[in-house]
Amino acid sequence: METAKERTVTPEQIEGPYWLPGSPERQRLVEDGIVGAPLTLTGRVFKQDLTPVEGAWVDFWQCDGVGVYDFEGYRLRGHQYTDADGRYRLETIVPVEYTDRLEFAGRQFDVHRTAHLHVKVKMPRRQTLTTQLYFPGAPHNDKDQIFNAACILELSSDGRTAQFDFVLPW
Ligand SMILES: [Fe+2]
Repeated sequence: METAKERTVTPEQIEGPYWLPGSPERQRLVEDGIVGAPLTLTGRVFKQDLTPVEGAWVDFWQCDGVGVYDFEGYRLRGHQYTDADGRYRLETIVPVEYTDRLEFAGRQFDVHRTAHLHVKVKMPRRQTLTTQLYFPGAPHNDKDQIFNAACILELSSDGRTAQFDFVLPW
């Protein structure tokens, strides 16, 4: 189904402090011992003219169901390449909101983040789009200064499946 969202170029969002290069290639991030409610996210990657992008690199990273990112390994991190129709599929868990302690100009301060998935999308021979995806109706969306309503997932009523199409600015 084509939606209005598909015609909007996906906004850039900050990378934040938690991206790691070299994530494993995989569609399934769920492993034994991961805390969180299961979520399957699917969608497509389009160029700005809405032609699908085959072979786009899509790299996800996120916290778990208690707000923790993994830095020792690659838990809840993974990349994949879109198929001939520009499709990707991610099997993961629902992230939760968390508080970041950030340092800026020698000062530390706390930033409360609403629940989000981080993602980088790169089509061949173009720059990388870095963005974040949000959950409709999450209680702290409107209190998060980074939140952008153009990056809200479509979520099924049971909350187990979600959909988001990326439109690249190229
Ligand atoms: Fe984050």
